[in-house]
Amino acid sequence: MPANEWDTDHAERYLARADDYPHRAEADAALLELVPTDPRRILDLGTGDGRVLRMVRDRSPTTRGIGLDVSHRMLTAARRECDDIDGIEILEHDLADELPDLGRFDAVVSSFAIHHLEHERKRALYEEILGALVPDGVFVNLEHVASPNERLHLEFLAAIDEPDDPSNRLLDVETQLAWLRELGYADVDCFWKWREIAVLSGRRPA
Ligand SMILES: C[S@@+](CC[C@H](N)C(=O)[O-])C[C@H]1O[C@@H](n2cnc3c(N)ncnc32)[C@H](O)[C@@H]1O
Repeated sequence: MPANEWDTDHAERYLARADDYPHRAEADAALLELVPTDPRRILDLGTGDGRVLRMVRDRSPTTRGIGLDVSHRMLTAARRECDDIDGIEILEHDLADELPDLGRFDAVVSSFAIHHLEHERKRALYEEILGALVPDGVFVNLEHVASPNERLHLEFLAAIDEPDDPSNRLLDVETQLAWLRELGYADVDCFWKWREIAVLSGRRPA
């Protein structure tokens, strides 16, 4: 597997299948429900082709958004898909590195991206996200999380009809919720879950 699998055909294969994963529509809806209805600014981490930014903009046409991604293939896809949407900016950034200062956001969202990072970096990123939120702003992470055991992991792979991806660094929900609470997020919970797909969220206290 190359250092960045997202700069191979893996990117286009994912995009072609993105709508068809089991329970994807439910997961998207659970994420969207936690985003304020009319956020002024939103940041999307690991934006892919800008899927979540576009969902938010469909609902809130005045929201301004920034999408970050490291993959040149995904950056090209995002710029193509978001080209005619005013107020959406797509920037290259590796989430393994500290978040750049992009100002404060009403919502920071991420969808199926943070599980690619080392655990230590996940926690540091959660702290940086808290610092990038306005008071009362929300972080919503639709994420691929770890199963409690190998048997359930294999059942999940069979259910989504995909081979195991050795570049994933899956982590259980409980650890991630505990981190968010320790870091000072309020209203932390796992709001939706199907097997290894979960929506985790917390709010920056007002
Ligand atoms: C499964 S795709 C999800 C894309 C989009 N968020 C969605 O829900 O359709 C994972 C995305 O995370 C991005 N990604 C993976 N590792 C990253 C990193 N270290 N920094 C920035 N983006 C990363 C990939 O390039 C890819 O676009």
